[in-house]
Amino acid sequence: MKSVEIIIDGIKKIVPKRITILKIAQDVGIEIPTLCYHSAIEPYGACRLCIVEIERNGRKRYVTACNFPVEDEIKIETNNENVVKIRKLILELLIAKVGYKGKVKEYAEKYEVEPRFGIGNDDCILCGLCVNVCKEIIGVSAISFSQRGIERKVSSPFEKEPTNCIGCGACSFVCPVDAIKVEDIKNERIIKKINAKLELEKCKICQKPFIPKKLIEYIKNKLGANVLLDIFLICNECKGKNYVDKLLPFSLTGGKK
Ligand code: SF4
Ligand code: FES
Repeated sequence: MKSVEIIIDGIKKIVPKRITILKIAQDVGIEIPTLCYHSAIEPYGACRLCIVEIERNGRKRYVTACNFPVEDEIKIETNNENVVKIRKLILELLIAKVGYKGKVKEYAEKYEVEPRFGIGNDDCILCGLCVNVCKEIIGVSAISFSQRGIERKVSSPFEKEPTNCIGCGACSFVCPVDAIKVEDIKNERIIKKINAKLELEKCKICQKPFIPKKLIEYIKNKLGANVLLDIFLICNECKGKNYVDKLLPFSLTGGKK
């Protein structure tokens, strides 16, 4: 693998070509703020918060660290005055959109950002993580972006109940501003933001509804192994309480007693 020498915040380093600036920074323990980045998902470059300054042949410019692949010798500044100014502006704009929520709040406090453009109350910063996790990791693509400009939003197709949603909750898990709430009410899982309603299967031990039937079907199709499947049919509480005396025999016998 070809490598290249770079300097990041004054530290010289030989790195493999095409590695991203964010990965280099993480390797040397430099923290770069991110909102739309997740290590398991292809970088999307939507939020711009990970902006850094690079210098190549004496010319400076600003790039997003999460998706900028290093090709040749460059000098990188991750936290100089200009970088911090740009990040503060991005955070001010995000606060004007969603107010102080989740990771936006955390970074606003860290960078001591004032709400120059007001405090908004939208729920979503359009980072794309939910859409991409559903597509790339779960392999379902139940949600996507719809509309354009200020109307742009995350939704299910035609804002109807998404027929292929399996109710796994990955979209909610990755959302940096907690915009997607997953609620289990009686025997249904409800994910309001994406119009999803899924029937829940009961725990084999305590009979409490806890996992979407569609999710079990999906796991069954993916794993094709009924022995393992029994582990998914027991809720977390029962797993904790009963692991040794109940769950272990289940998983070893494939649920047959
Ligand atoms: S709902 Fe959350 S994860 Fe999805 S785009 Fe909006 S902010 Fe990002
Ligand atoms: S984290 Fe890099 S653009 Fe959002």
